[in-house]
Amino acid sequence: MLNIILMGPPGAGKGTQATRIIDEFNLPHISTGDIFRENISKGTELGLKAKAIIERGDLVPDELTIDLVRSRLSQDDCAKGYLLDGFPRTIAQAEALKTMGPEIGRAVNLVVDITVPDEVLMERIAGRRVCPKCGASYNVNTMKPAKEGICDRCGAELIQRKDDNPESFKIRLDNYYAQTAPLVDFYKAEGLYHHFDGMIGLEKVSAEISELLKANQ
Ligand code: AP5
Ligand code: MG
Repeated sequence: MLNIILMGPPGAGKGTQATRIIDEFNLPHISTGDIFRENISKGTELGLKAKAIIERGDLVPDELTIDLVRSRLSQDDCAKGYLLDGFPRTIAQAEALKTMGPEIGRAVNLVVDITVPDEVLMERIAGRRVCPKCGASYNVNTMKPAKEGICDRCGAELIQRKDDNPESFKIRLDNYYAQTAPLVDFYKAEGLYHHFDGMIGLEKVSAEISELLKANQ
């Protein structure tokens, strides 16, 4: 069973690797960031609560995020495995998942952490364009789509995220170090932690992650 957490700083390549993993291993992709952005674009109650917080680069309150993940993970399509991208992001979220996972038959068994130096993260974020429909990530400098401005996977028009500006990025990175980085020790202590160097090239990162997942299938 592959019940996976994908973690790493903003721009490390979580979304990029997630797209490949879900295609290869046929898992549902649960990106809390994508779910919040979808709610923002639809103008739901959750979206209205999260909009300003996300655009300035802060974390959405734990309570809202934990409830969202609990209801998504409880759905039938997660019974045969899942890929969580961007959750948990705080110790409180990790503790909640540790309790809820076994309760709903969805205990986490692998944590994949991708790291990249800060200055590279900043460059990647500045050049990123994303698909608002399927969540795929591109880069105007390094990972262009086949047709400019159009998603290779689903044909939708690419956009720049509202939080991909230098001010919001700085806040996202500060929050990552203050709130999310402590999860490394948390998951090391649980014996679930696996580190990947996000600087070795997209294909190599994918190959290494794929090897780990195949060995744990
Ligand atoms: P979220 O959507 O999760 O954003 P993030 O963590 O800031 O991460 P990103 O999506 O920016 O980066 P990524 O690692 O996916 O990189 P990507 O693959 O796109 O969260 C957004 C917001 O939602 C948060 O700030 C918060 O407000 C809220 N939120 C979400 N979850 C929450 C939670 N659990 N609790 C509270 N709040 C929450 O790649 C980046 C760029 O690099 C792309 O251009 C890509 O083409 C390029 N690239 C990728 N891999 C490589 C490579 N190997 N080599 C070269 N370039 C690469
Ligand atoms: Mg992402």
